[in-house]
Amino acid sequence: MDQMYRLQRYIYDFTRKYYLLGRDRLLRDMELQPGAHVLEIGCGTARNLIRLARQRPDLHCYGLDASTEMLATAMDKVKSRGLEQRITLKHCLAEELDHTKTFGLDAPFDAAFFSYSLSMIPTWPQAIDAALANLKPRAAFYVVDFWDQADWPRWFRFMLRRWLDLFHVHHRPELLEHLRHLDTQGVGKLTLQSVAGRYAYLATFRKL
Ligand SMILES: C[S@@+](CC[C@H](N)C(=O)[O-])C[C@H]1O[C@@H](n2cnc3c(N)ncnc32)[C@H](O)[C@@H]1O
Repeated sequence: MDQMYRLQRYIYDFTRKYYLLGRDRLLRDMELQPGAHVLEIGCGTARNLIRLARQRPDLHCYGLDASTEMLATAMDKVKSRGLEQRITLKHCLAEELDHTKTFGLDAPFDAAFFSYSLSMIPTWPQAIDAALANLKPRAAFYVVDFWDQADWPRWFRFMLRRWLDLFHVHHRPELLEHLRHLDTQGVGKLTLQSVAGRYAYLATFRKL
């Protein structure tokens, strides 16, 4: 991960602006009570956390990432914007999250989100389990990530997937199946929305 992001982190936000669609919609749509503690899992350069902290000065924002290179950029950005009291960043694997050990918190989070990170995490079922285990009862985690581009031409789908392979990013139809399965098992309630003709999806999974 660090090897891939060592140089990319400098151009990451500018280049991803054009194809990581739906991120701002996710930030707007999350249901967050005043003073909520919100975690981004796979926060990268902290682009989303900085936006969220600016939109909602009442929130306590947290981010974790597997890449120390991405976190170095994230920490620089957070500091340069004077947000270090409001955004806490930690180096941690998504699947190893423990709110007490990772962030020293007494209580679980009020909300968590994955923005284009689950498609990069090979151990995504464990990452989902860890998110659920570190949320309060009836709290939700949110996901924005690549969908099947069903409304787009075949050539576009083909080109996009070849491009994403270069960055170890994979469309995972089995991930939504897994969330549907958890829903039918009564673990939580899944709601799903399309972004740009199923280019991406926005999922909300609320713990029951
Ligand atoms: C495509 S980037 C998205 C960054 C950010 N969420 C955004 O929307 O701009 C995916 C991020 O997930 C991180 N990541 C990959 N595997 C991870 C894991 N197992 N645990 C935590 N973070 C991981 C990567 O280091 C990278 O920063």
